[in-house]
Amino acid sequence: MAASATAHVLNAAGEEKSAISAMAFIADSTAQARVSADLFNVTLGKANIREGSIDGALGLSEWPRDLDLLVVDLADSNDPVADAAALKTAVPSRCIVIALGRINDVALYRDLIAVGFNDYLALPLNEGVVGRAVERALELRERGGATMNAAVTGKDARPRTLSVIGARGGVGATTTAVAVAGMLGSRLREEVLLIDFDLHYGSLMLSLDLEAIDALREALDQPDRIDALFIQQVAQKKGEYLYAIGAEEAPSGGFQARPHAANDFLRQIHRKFRWVVADVPRGDPVIQRQVIEASTDILLIADLSLPGVRDAMRIQQIVHDVAPNAKLYLATSGVIDARRSSVKVADVERTLKRKIDCQIPSDVPAALAAVNFGKPLAEAAPNSSIVKALRPLVAGLDVEGGKGGGSGGTSRSLLRRFSQGLKARKK
Ligand SMILES: Nc1ncnc2c1ncn2[C@@H]1O[C@H](COP(=O)(O)OP(=O)(O)O)[C@@H](O)[C@H]1O
Ligand SMILES: [Mg+2]
Repeated sequence: MAASATAHVLNAAGEEKSAISAMAFIADSTAQARVSADLFNVTLGKANIREGSIDGALGLSEWPRDLDLLVVDLADSNDPVADAAALKTAVPSRCIVIALGRINDVALYRDLIAVGFNDYLALPLNEGVVGRAVERALELRERGGATMNAAVTGKDARPRTLSVIGARGGVGATTTAVAVAGMLGSRLREEVLLIDFDLHYGSLMLSLDLEAIDALREALDQPDRIDALFIQQVAQKKGEYLYAIGAEEAPSGGFQARPHAANDFLRQIHRKFRWVVADVPRGDPVIQRQVIEASTDILLIADLSLPGVRDAMRIQQIVHDVAPNAKLYLATSGVIDARRSSVKVADVERTLKRKIDCQIPSDVPAALAAVNFGKPLAEAAPNSSIVKALRPLVAGLDVEGGKGGGSGGTSRSLLRRFSQGLKARKK
């Protein structure tokens, strides 16, 4: 990567700065040369400049985690704003994105800024234009960093617990909880803790090839005895940003959580982990209710069947009753291909009186790969359509005040609005 510990450059004020890590996808060869020259100083000549456009950038399945800057040519994209929105959710959240294009239109500029791009430069490029745009964006990022990053990376923002609940068993709740936690951690570059609240029959630890522990039950019994050291000892590390806790209590051993046990437990856990993703059991109404009550965000996954819709409705009701302030996201299961399901997405939306936030597609090979490797989906099958479908949801989660959920107004509807506006303008 371009950014290494020893690579330093001087900025305009003569202060020493680390070289930034940059990539570019540019179709026009003159523009390529310009960008390359302009970025030479800030990247120490190590910018990764490729021939291509936003299409090529969207095709990239994995982005360098430390990428600081992406310059992307909109070229002949049919729907530049929709493409830009999709690209913005794929790149690391701190990455500055600057678009190039032939259309000199302030409305397009505004739409691109609205989806999170940092600048838009019309071709042909004059000498130094890109360099100045990059400097400006870097400066803004540094200055605005404190406020912007609180929203984006949320270092000092409030603790969040996302509960993932399947309306019925086998709809992919555990798979999705693991996938979302993995994606969220990489995106925020922040440690995320997965907790399997099904103490008897949970499958989360098994799916990650980690050991179940007895301490979870004890911790739920006596949350006041949890301290930082305890959490450090019981949370098992799965990846750079991913940790997990789960139990495997004997099926015969009855466990009755005392009132507010989950809430007290989570409060202690949040002293070490800001983000918790909870896999919520369906079979234990007491713990289910407690975890929902303690959640700031809830992802409800319904399968496209009659019982699936009925139970999604019932869980939706519980959420309204015990966690009225939590953000509720609704997804449809991908375990059974939607085309082979008796119930249609529109039926679910009509019955639950709200939009679906995410249609999780069916991808059996990817789901199998995750099981076989004992890894989150985004690692085991980064190109899976499931990962693509979950991306906007994950991106919406770490936006302060969460735009997603509630009425179902996620980035998808935002995206549609933008692209419609753009089409209207083109006419
Ligand atoms: N989107 C998907 N497409 C295909 N298979 C999936 C998908 N999501 C999950 N699966 C598979 O479905 C089965 C049940 O998934 P799991 O996550 O354990 O469901 P739950 O936790 O709701 O019971 C697993 O074999 C899993 O690999
Ligand atoms: Mg499960």
